[in-house]
Amino acid sequence: MAEPEPLFLPLSQERAAHFYALEMDGFTADVDFYRRWLPQRGTLLELGCGTARLARQLADGGRTVVAIDNSLPMLALARRYLPPGLRLVCTDLLAPGLKGNFAAIVIAYNTLNLLATPENVRQCLGHCRRLLAPDGLLLVQLHLPGAKSTGRRGKTFQFQFLPLPTGGRVIKEVLREYLPETATILVEERYRVRPSLPAAAKEDLAHRYPILAFSRKEWQALFTAAGFTSRASYGSYALTPWSESATTLLEVLAVK
Ligand SMILES: C[S@@+](CC[C@H](N)C(=O)[O-])C[C@H]1O[C@@H](n2cnc3c(N)ncnc32)[C@H](O)[C@@H]1O
Repeated sequence: MAEPEPLFLPLSQERAAHFYALEMDGFTADVDFYRRWLPQRGTLLELGCGTARLARQLADGGRTVVAIDNSLPMLALARRYLPPGLRLVCTDLLAPGLKGNFAAIVIAYNTLNLLATPENVRQCLGHCRRLLAPDGLLLVQLHLPGAKSTGRRGKTFQFQFLPLPTGGRVIKEVLREYLPETATILVEERYRVRPSLPAAAKEDLAHRYPILAFSRKEWQALFTAAGFTSRASYGSYALTPWSESATTLLEVLAVK
């Protein structure tokens, strides 16, 4: 008889935020990209700031950062350390309800891929266009599917260990299934929580969500239609020029 499938309970927003912080708090590889292109002074907007790991790095010196997210647990973690120049707002990036003339807008770490439909992306880019100063820049990082995802059907699998501050670890598994008919990747994240204390409960939690799996050409068509023009495109955090094999796109966009 086949082994039963392991039972994963749904991942709450609170736990998702804690796992995100566990994985990403120390991640700084993208900071140089933003520092290189962002103005030294003025007010910036970050859409989908999460735990504010990037926003707090950018809110230094002369910059003020308004950072928005629609997850209260993410923003609660962002509040752990709030530098004076950082303001957090809980709102939806599809209807931000903000006014402004921002010197730059940042959409970091695949946040635009999470918007699920091209219509949502158009809506978000329309808000960016309205909220940017005429000489402002929009800086975006996107995940591109790459030949590994698009070249075959079936699932790809990755895993990593996240040490728990209280001892033990979380085993994170990510399964990705590329769906060409909708140009999306269905992502399933599984977290196996294994504390070191024998009395502490083991947990198996999971969530599934689609991400947009457009090519660079398709993303650029959306940017152009929204009134943006490309100033620079990189294919890695080391800021190497974009090439066909890149699975990340760091895009610098100006208002046309
Ligand atoms: C991949 S995380 C990136 C977090 C952060 N920008 C970083 O670089 O670490 C994406 C974030 O976007 C937020 N988000 C997703 N959809 C959103 C929406 N419609 N409105 C506001 N925030 C959203 C999520 O809650 C999450 O915190």
